[in-house]
Amino acid sequence: MALRHLMSPLDLSVEETNRLLDLAVDIEHNRDKYAHRCDGKKIATLFYEPSTRTRLSFEAAMMNLGGKALGFHDASTSSVSKGETVADTIRLVSCYADICAMRHPKEGAPLVASMYSTIPVINAGDGGHQHPTQTLTDMLTIRSLKGRLENLTIGLCGDLKFGRTVHSLIESMSRYKNIRFVLISPEELRVPSYVTEEMKEKGIPYKEVIALNEETMKDLDVLYMTRVQKERFFNEEDYVRMKDFYILDAAKMAVAPKDMIVMHPLPRVNEIAPEVDKDPRAAYFKQVQYGVYARMALILTLLGLDKEDK
Ligand code: CP
Repeated sequence: MALRHLMSPLDLSVEETNRLLDLAVDIEHNRDKYAHRCDGKKIATLFYEPSTRTRLSFEAAMMNLGGKALGFHDASTSSVSKGETVADTIRLVSCYADICAMRHPKEGAPLVASMYSTIPVINAGDGGHQHPTQTLTDMLTIRSLKGRLENLTIGLCGDLKFGRTVHSLIESMSRYKNIRFVLISPEELRVPSYVTEEMKEKGIPYKEVIALNEETMKDLDVLYMTRVQKERFFNEEDYVRMKDFYILDAAKMAVAPKDMIVMHPLPRVNEIAPEVDKDPRAAYFKQVQYGVYARMALILTLLGLDKEDK
């Protein structure tokens, strides 16, 4: 089987994405069937930037499949602190593991790793660029809770400039029929122009607004909230000015559509008030569970173990 990596959600065709999501659903409903599919396999999780969900869900995914996990979650305790390059690190990790998930603060670092790797490399988030496995998680959540990936109006709210999950989700969902985006952000955190240019080229309808209010939310099927990411700001003053720009609370939910789901890649800070957690439309903790199934399906796909007879 040819070596495949996942750097961007667009590395998978629409057909492959749909097949992977089908597999994730099968895994959700038939956990026992997959419990030994990766016996003897190992995943290396190389995290040069903090994470809770992505790293743990990759490790849980591999363990659920019968495999094991190794890696580091703090590059300062690895030989990176001695100056080892990403290229050299992945060369040796290729000797220890069967597949690797890498998060790095620099855009493109997992791509560099993939060029030197003899095992599949998964981009687990690179700077403000892409987060393809969050996108697979998000798509599985949307498909499971809304019943479709077509004919949707998706609102994305918060830090749309640095939010890699937002960029990946827009690119992926733009490939499905009749998708509209409502981009809700302060002027300073608008989605990068390369993303809007692509939407224009593809004829994807979108509008950019600042307020998160009844008028903005009235047609939304999905409201995707995001955190203003302190770690991406050069200037503390700008962060402080932006951080509480949006707070989704019970009052706002009261004027939102009754069938609108609320998603968030997490972690959240203040942008969703805890009182919203008990609202049946709050989907962000379900999303975490879907993330495990999506990553299980991805591991199987990249290792060529997605079919029963392999
Ligand atoms: N959604 C996400 O990437 O969360 P972590 O930063 O905790 O991995």
